[in-house]
Amino acid sequence: MNILAIESSCDETAAAVVTDGVRVVSNSIASSHDMHEKYGGVVPELAARAQMESIIPVIRQALTVYTGGNTLSLTEAIRTHIDAIAVTVGPGLIGSLLVGVESARALAYATQKPIIPVNHVLAHMYANFVHAYEQKQEITFPAISLVVSGGHTELYHMRSPTDLLWLGGTLDDAAGECFDKTARLLGFGHGGGVAIQEAAKKHDSHRVTGISLPRPMLDKNNALNFSFSGLKTAILRETERLKSENNWNDTALYALSHEVQETITDVLVKKTLRAIDTHEATSVLLSGGVSANLRLRQKLAHALAPYTIPLFVPPISLCTDNAVYIASYAYFRGKKRAWQDIDAYPSLPVEVEPTKEAI
Ligand code: KG4
Ligand code: ZN
Repeated sequence: MNILAIESSCDETAAAVVTDGVRVVSNSIASSHDMHEKYGGVVPELAARAQMESIIPVIRQALTVYTGGNTLSLTEAIRTHIDAIAVTVGPGLIGSLLVGVESARALAYATQKPIIPVNHVLAHMYANFVHAYEQKQEITFPAISLVVSGGHTELYHMRSPTDLLWLGGTLDDAAGECFDKTARLLGFGHGGGVAIQEAAKKHDSHRVTGISLPRPMLDKNNALNFSFSGLKTAILRETERLKSENNWNDTALYALSHEVQETITDVLVKKTLRAIDTHEATSVLLSGGVSANLRLRQKLAHALAPYTIPLFVPPISLCTDNAVYIASYAYFRGKKRAWQDIDAYPSLPVEVEPTKEAI
């Protein structure tokens, strides 16, 4: 089954064709990331405008394998080679989501193909199914799945590729949001988690710094929930202390970046271990933009060694937003709809329960 997937929930515009949920035929992405750099964050109106310009070229690129040599038009290629069109319907920025949703509706109408609406956050974890297939590995169940992105930090219990149960999530800021806000606070602009990761690498771990941040929500009462909003204040307090002591320099900046990364990854790893203990998982899936973080990958792999259960992490190109995992999710878990029956849902819930699901 060939699925053409479209993703436009934040500042990326992406399209991909995936066969049977795991075989990548094409993967095309355009990002307005650089444009947002000078504003220090994503400007929703600018993102949506850029996406309106790039959506058709991106879809066209994803279908070149069928239209190459201009033997077939876009709609003819879909009619001949594609079985369904998957599209992210939420959660995300309304203007951005609408660009993808309306394009999918128009293409489905023109080609008489069904649409599969996709929840972006749940879809992130399916990047692991694509990667496992490429690596000739098999994901075993039950699995614990941690999705860490710019807007979400969520833990799931997965009993099969279709059977998901939400275990807990962030009560306020997501891990990625915390990385992004800290990056801005420390003067790294729109560089986000990557900037913190690179600065943290320059920290000399033999140097005693006196910099220490609280690890929020590790007590038993907050079982599998997260909270990262307090960290910003703690980081601000540390920078002010260092400045008032005349110790604010590159060394301090690297040390603080290191401690921020250690704090966020400590909490993510501890909660994941707690979920494994509670649910007797046989494998662990990591996904979402923050799963590109090398320290998180390393720490989780190290913490899992005594459990002797495998950790699945997608390659960095499949961690951040793309349409490959949208297609994969649609294949394993999506429901086909007519073009008239889909819409954009900016606040689409991610707290999945088997009997209650909006999409
Ligand atoms: O999944 P994603 O591409 O978009 C959303 O769905 O939100 O995630 C983007 C998030 C941003 O917060 C970004 O700073 C973070 O992923 N991120 C990282 C790294 N690469 C991307 N965070 C920490 N370390 C990284 N290497
Ligand atoms: Zn995402």
